[in-house]
Amino acid sequence: MHVAIIMDGNGRWATDRGLPRVFGHRAGVKRVEETVRAAPDLGITALTLYAFSTENWKRPDREVNALFTLLRVYFNRKAQELFAEGVRVRFIGNRDRLSRSVVQTMARVEDLTAPCTRLTLNIAVDYGGRDEMLRVMRGLVVRAAAGEIGPEAVTADAVHALSDLAELAEPDLLIRTGGERRLSNFLLWHVAYSELDFLPMLWPDFTTTDLTEALARFRVRERRFGGVVRKTA
Ligand code: FPP
Repeated sequence: MHVAIIMDGNGRWATDRGLPRVFGHRAGVKRVEETVRAAPDLGITALTLYAFSTENWKRPDREVNALFTLLRVYFNRKAQELFAEGVRVRFIGNRDRLSRSVVQTMARVEDLTAPCTRLTLNIAVDYGGRDEMLRVMRGLVVRAAAGEIGPEAVTADAVHALSDLAELAEPDLLIRTGGERRLSNFLLWHVAYSELDFLPMLWPDFTTTDLTEALARFRVRERRFGGVVRKTA
């Protein structure tokens, strides 16, 4: 089962406590850690987390820098532990606007954890669903212009194969914390048939009990995929 999460509400969590927003992101990292640890035993084989969107560059430099520092420190510190837990880490999105140290950390943790199979953890960084689709379209146009493919080659399977989630099944469930009911440019292509669960609690308040409950709700929903009846297991 593949679960995707929009981890919203860190800023509000901190502001509610009279703290700078970065404290909310720090508290959010703890929830990331708990969620990753709990996921395999809950039947999750792939987890895709929205850590930084193509639009998040609009935030103040201080907050952007703090987020990348958190990401870098977390993955440098936890790489071995993730490996030992069987977690394969992948980063999706663009890397060309990231600092060298962040890109190096990403490559190192991806290489180290490449053989792991218990859980695939995708971290979306400088990721946007439209941006991903534009990259796919450009890839197809380049191949068409070179005479390698014609219009008939542009199929859903071809788009998926060129996408950031090429090796994975689409998310079964998308969770968004923080009370907003929108996708904010996350995984637009891939969530076409995902079940959506919008939760009121802020991300730093999201516990493994909340995750367990979301999975229980998902399991009783009837997924028809545009057809008549097709029950999930
Ligand atoms: C949204 O809350 C959250 C983010 C933009 C960042 C999410 C990132 C993390 C939890 C840390 C990532 C680190 C690792 C190790 C994966 P918001 O700031 O938009 O909150 P608000 O809506 O209350 O302002």
